[in-house]
Amino acid sequence: MTADDLATARAEYARLGAEIARHDELYYREDAPVISDAEYDDLRRRYEALEKAHPELVTEKSLSKRIGAAPAEKFAKVRHKVPVLSLGNVFADADVEDFVARVRRFLGLSADAPLAMTAEPKIDGLSCSLRYEHGHLVQAATRGDGYEGEDVTANVKTIGEIPHVLKHAPPAVLEVRGEVYMTLADFAALNERQAKAGKPLFANPRNSAAGSLRQLDPAITASRPLHFFAYAWGEVSHMPAATQMGMLEKFKSYGFPVNKLTTLCHSAEELLRHYHDIENHRATLGYDIDGVVYKVNDLALQERLGFVSRAPRWAVAHKFPAHQATTVLRDIEIQVGRTGALTPVARLEPVTVGGVVVSNATLHNEDEIARKDIRIGDTVRLQRAGDVIPQILGVVLEKRPKNAKPYRFPHVCPVCGSAAIREKSDGGTDVVRRCTGGLICQAQAQERLKHFVSRLAFDIEGLGEKQIEQFYAEGLITKPDDIFTLAARDAHAKTKLVEREGYGETSVRNLFAAIEARREIPLNRFIFALGIRHVGETNARRLARHFVTFEALRKTARAASEGSEARAEIDNIEGLGAVVAEAVADFFAEKHNEDELDALLKYVTVEPMEAVASSSPVAGKTVVFTGSLERMTRDEAKAQAERLGAKVASSVSKNTDLVVAGPGAGSKLDKAKELGVETIDEEAWLKLAAEARG
Ligand code: IVH
Repeated sequence: MTADDLATARAEYARLGAEIARHDELYYREDAPVISDAEYDDLRRRYEALEKAHPELVTEKSLSKRIGAAPAEKFAKVRHKVPVLSLGNVFADADVEDFVARVRRFLGLSADAPLAMTAEPKIDGLSCSLRYEHGHLVQAATRGDGYEGEDVTANVKTIGEIPHVLKHAPPAVLEVRGEVYMTLADFAALNERQAKAGKPLFANPRNSAAGSLRQLDPAITASRPLHFFAYAWGEVSHMPAATQMGMLEKFKSYGFPVNKLTTLCHSAEELLRHYHDIENHRATLGYDIDGVVYKVNDLALQERLGFVSRAPRWAVAHKFPAHQATTVLRDIEIQVGRTGALTPVARLEPVTVGGVVVSNATLHNEDEIARKDIRIGDTVRLQRAGDVIPQILGVVLEKRPKNAKPYRFPHVCPVCGSAAIREKSDGGTDVVRRCTGGLICQAQAQERLKHFVSRLAFDIEGLGEKQIEQFYAEGLITKPDDIFTLAARDAHAKTKLVEREGYGETSVRNLFAAIEARREIPLNRFIFALGIRHVGETNARRLARHFVTFEALRKTARAASEGSEARAEIDNIEGLGAVVAEAVADFFAEKHNEDELDALLKYVTVEPMEAVASSSPVAGKTVVFTGSLERMTRDEAKAQAERLGAKVASSVSKNTDLVVAGPGAGSKLDKAKELGVETIDEEAWLKLAAEARG
């Protein structure tokens, strides 16, 4: 090789390097690549071939030497020390008055006792939890399912408004929570860039903020202008303030942006006045808000109010009215759900409602269609509020086509042909028509599988709705336990997973690994995954807390025939009741469910529920309150007991560990004495609670 050859190679190597770097920049930072992936790969190949032929060309600056360029395949999970909660929603002014009245009632406050509340804009972005230790940002996580989020630390560090180091002596441990959002102007500019690059557009600023933060490559996040408002907190080593307002002021002093429109109000009327004020400003803010959040200002009162399932009793979101539009109803399709419910879905002429294109809407049920006399071909009014699926409000009768016929709701399942009936009960006829096909109905079986792998259940990465449909259609996964034998069967299959469209070595390996990782699963997720009627995430958690192990739940549920003590035990769990107890008993009484459980438990280990507040002397105990309480309301006492890890039951049985009896206690106290259950008064209970809190 001559010196000339080497010089040519060197020049070509430099040129290719610069070109690749430019395309990296366009792709990662600007989201606007100008060449195809194949062309890019070709450049890379030529670059690598030169390196192989002339190793002497490689320097520290070579692209192949750059580390950290390859983005991670997925985010690590972060367990939230304090769960990230959601908020209850209200729409009407009267609901706000109810909220304030409810807070007062719970706390036992008289109508004229002062009660201060903050009103803050509800930012339409995505929430994020930022952990600081000794003033340094150490971790940032998305909300996830509220208990476990994704580690987005590297991405969050690219957001200029989020301080890496805090000012003014913050607590040693401080988790600041707030909203990451994108301004309307930046959103429009980003979409323009996306359009130019032939990439899909974001539906709204919220989605674009989420899409930008949840990027595996922080360089992309860095290229997208994101902002932040702090409004809440998770773990805090010592509270620097005693009110919501005080906390916001502290956040500001540490260096966080807080929303200037937050105000302190003293009555429902004042909250509403501020709400309408903010609503009037909405268009001039430059970022999307979807309502106003009201919070009890005093943190000691917040603590007393506590939570109902995942929403605080001390806060509520007052949403702005929904966006409305009219369009033509092209067709009504019936979807069959996991429990066999036939749900009518409206297929619409696509229309933009509040910036989002809508082509489907829910029609709820048969009666709703009849009541509104909705016919195919009608022009309908629809509305969309927040993230919920759009709803049809009614028909524009003047525009009804002459030949439009009233809609006849099917009486057979459109999927399996079984009869679809409306169950009758004491309360009358169910509004929902259900397919009676059970597991022979493919729709039900498929929906149950989708539920089984969903985010709050088994949450198997790479096994979503689309894949379940595919695997189901091919008979590869027809029941939950099939998921766990997929890899073993694939090893001996004629046509392997890797050979099919859309799969490669990596995706198959990842899928099998994701399945492996779920061979151990927390009890609450497992119960939720079973898809028992009326057992959603919260009730699954209640059952898990009460029974601690799956065996214990199964044993009681099997014995839970009507009127039995076992049935009463489930019925008595705080928050459940007769309907849930019946559904649980029914589920375990079905032979095919029992068979499926046996099959599944061969592959899956269910982890017992972790005890909450295990240091508390009442953790795991079943407590009953009876008689009148003087220092707090009954609701507050119950909430407090649950916070300390106790189970609150409504009646005394041999499973009761402790009865807290106030003046006027009657038959429950007698029963406790008869059974020899420990009985204390309110004072003793409060002492116990104080000890438990430490
Ligand atoms: S407080 C326990 N304040 O709304 C309190 N949330 O629908 C939890 N959000 O997940 C939240 N602005 O992402 C709170 N000023 C604000 C908010 C706000 C927006 C979001 C947040 C939350 C969701 C609940």
